Amino acid sequence: MKILAIETSCDETAVAILEAKGDDQHAEFTIKGDALLSQIEIHREYGGVFPHLAKREHAKNLVPLLTAAFEEAEMLHENAQVISDEVRNQVERILEREPGLTEAFLDFVSESDRPDFDVIAVTSGPGLEPALWVGVNFARALSLVWDKPIVGINHMEGHILAGIARREDRTITIGDVKLPVLALLISGGHTELELMDPWLSYTLVGQTRDDAVGEAFDKVARMLGLPYPGGPEISRLAEDARMINEENPYALPRPMIDSETGDFSFAGLKTAVLYLLKNHPEVSEAEKKHIAQEFEDAAAEVLWKKTSDAIQSTGAQTVVIGGGVSANAHIRREFEKHIKEKHPEVALRIPVPSLTTDNAIMIGLAGFYRALRHEFSDPATLRADGNLSVANRP
Ligand code: KG4
Ligand code: ZN
Repeated sequence: MKILAIETSCDETAVAILEAKGDDQHAEFTIKGDALLSQIEIHREYGGVFPHLAKREHAKNLVPLLTAAFEEAEMLHENAQVISDEVRNQVERILEREPGLTEAFLDFVSESDRPDFDVIAVTSGPGLEPALWVGVNFARALSLVWDKPIVGINHMEGHILAGIARREDRTITIGDVKLPVLALLISGGHTELELMDPWLSYTLVGQTRDDAVGEAFDKVARMLGLPYPGGPEISRLAEDARMINEENPYALPRPMIDSETGDFSFAGLKTAVLYLLKNHPEVSEAEKKHIAQEFEDAAAEVLWKKTSDAIQSTGAQTVVIGGGVSANAHIRREFEKHIKEKHPEVALRIPVPSLTTDNAIMIGLAGFYRALRHEFSDPATLRADGNLSVANRP
């Protein structure tokens, strides 16, 4: 199966082409084309992702990225195509809310043969709705002119599969996964534990009651005067502090660490940093490093404790971490250490760095399994849903 995958849920525009073979038990994917453009530099000026700016950038970048991905896959053959007035009108209607995209799209499809692939996988949620819509409408227009089916993909399922996957260069394998799988999803918009059992069927175990952990990283970074996105910046400072290894004078709370529920809370941790800085406005570089370290320790401890409790209550055989925050070196190390010590029978899977933050490859992985199940979306009614949940998929 050849899959065209499209991701526009936040501030990365990404297109990938995968060739997949196998089944639920064991699948192998070859990355044929992979094109990604990060908008981080643009959003950095605003200190966060600005949805309408993200939307405009996605609209601008989708056709060039699609072209690049198909060219890399050697699947693009120039050949003038006649686009009927009727199809042209339909495309205009589908893309009417995506300024600038219609013309580039029509130019592109009128210059090349229809590439040989089987299905379009597009992120339909969760994420920033204006951003999601660009990808969804782009996929709908492609589906119309190339007559290909679409599967709408849950971005969080993409992160889960990216965590489970093993990648070697351009080959990805997913297999031998022991169920139940407990997935800890940690990103800028999510902090949740999902139990996967059977394969690709989810139940929510717990979630944040306020801020997502990535959001807390970003906000604390901002308080410390660090640029967006804050996660990598905090991590850099905290790693410095760990190298120097002096006693850390700061103590931050571990919200809800001993609560009975699987739920999380990060707002109190963030506010504790706010008050600490209010009482102590002139922080030195060394103090910043200690605050970053203590914040990271607190976040990692809570994430681990909740995950460990959930392993016990669910009998999970595999733990997977997914989402942008799973790039965090300290969290990775802590999970590796604690799993070995406390749950040696449980397999831990963490995404390779190239699949940790948002990308289209993970959307293609999910697209394969959803297409295998014939879960095709009607292009006429497929919608972007900013709050789409991964649990209880019909
Ligand atoms: O999954 P992702 O790329 O986008 C969303 O779907 O949200 O996650 C982005 C989040 C941001 O909050 C960013 O600060 C955080 O992941 N992040 C990190 C690290 N790298 C990215 N947080 C902690 N440590 C990191 N190394
Ligand atoms: Zn993400």
